[in-house]
Amino acid sequence: MMKEQLKTLQPYKPGKNIEDVKAELGLEKVVKLASNENPFGSSPNAIQGMERVFGELMVYPDGYAADLREKVSRHLGVSEDRLIFGNGTDEIIHILSRSLLEPGTNTIMADLTFPQYKRNAVIEGAEVKEVPLKEDGRHDLEAMLAAIDDETRIIWLCNPNNPTGEYIRDYELRTFLDQVPAYVTVVCDEAYFEYVTASDFPDAVTLSNEYRQLFVTRTFSKAYGLAALRIGYGVGHADLVQGIEPAREPFNASRLAQAAAVAALDDHSFVDECSRKNRQGLEAFYDFCDIFQLKYFPSQTNFILIDFGVSGDVIYNYLLKQGYIVRSGEALGYPNGVRITIGTEADNEAVIQHLKDYIHDR
Ligand SMILES: Cc1ncc(COP(=O)(O)O)c(C=O)c1O
Repeated sequence: MMKEQLKTLQPYKPGKNIEDVKAELGLEKVVKLASNENPFGSSPNAIQGMERVFGELMVYPDGYAADLREKVSRHLGVSEDRLIFGNGTDEIIHILSRSLLEPGTNTIMADLTFPQYKRNAVIEGAEVKEVPLKEDGRHDLEAMLAAIDDETRIIWLCNPNNPTGEYIRDYELRTFLDQVPAYVTVVCDEAYFEYVTASDFPDAVTLSNEYRQLFVTRTFSKAYGLAALRIGYGVGHADLVQGIEPAREPFNASRLAQAAAVAALDDHSFVDECSRKNRQGLEAFYDFCDIFQLKYFPSQTNFILIDFGVSGDVIYNYLLKQGYIVRSGEALGYPNGVRITIGTEADNEAVIQHLKDYIHDR
């Protein structure tokens, strides 16, 4: 007998893939700007790091991820026992959910936010309390506080938030944490951390020294350009991290992923350059939206959610025919929106030109 709650879920539906779109529409060039991947590739350091372990593929990876642990520990200035590594942040979310949620407990998250928090909570049989985002695309932290009860175990803060790109300010996070009871774990999912430029973005890792219930997740999938390898990590109080460790599969982070991540961490210039070009791309989209008076959320990420005043499917289909796969807001819970990953300069320009053509012709 299957768990009842699984019947309420649909399998994850990835966006269309490039080869299918090429074949379907007879296009030679198709660009995917739908999954917030890095359009500038991966650090050459990471590729070399992987090459160094090609001869060791018959051996299981280091389950403790000692080299990567030491590197990340130095990178963040936290002790090694405060780190846990996963097969992407997705797995860290899974491990946390498996460890802390069960029937009779509940978990609080924004509506709209990254869908994996809810999916995992439903599978664990926990109640999901979704708190609508504010009009400006930001978390409603007061309403989230009000939703806490004795059975609350995890509050998910996606910062910056996917799919709006908006962020929680430093002072907001501190005020919030001051009021969260100690038995509730607050997860700050910082998948887009390396793209952030706002000076009042919280330093959650440092705050986690002070607030024992704060747990921060980061990934190598975005600015480091290693999405295919599936490697991410969590930072929290040692008691919490050691407590959830038994829920982690023994060899969950592959040897290739660990080697690439170790090498990628040294390549600051790659990440800085990707972040700089991303900011330029965002500015180009802001200018376009301002000229055409389109509503959008200012973004601290590598994507932008734009409201075109029509179903996101219309824009999605229009851009698809031009060879650009974006994400319709219909699939994200923001029906009139389209979420576009910031691409290379040439692709950003092309998308913006297609959008201008669409607006002129409609
Ligand atoms: C907010 C957020 N968290 C986590 C993830 C998943 O990251 P990973 O590739 O490390 O599993 C994503 C991916 O899009 C994301 O947007």
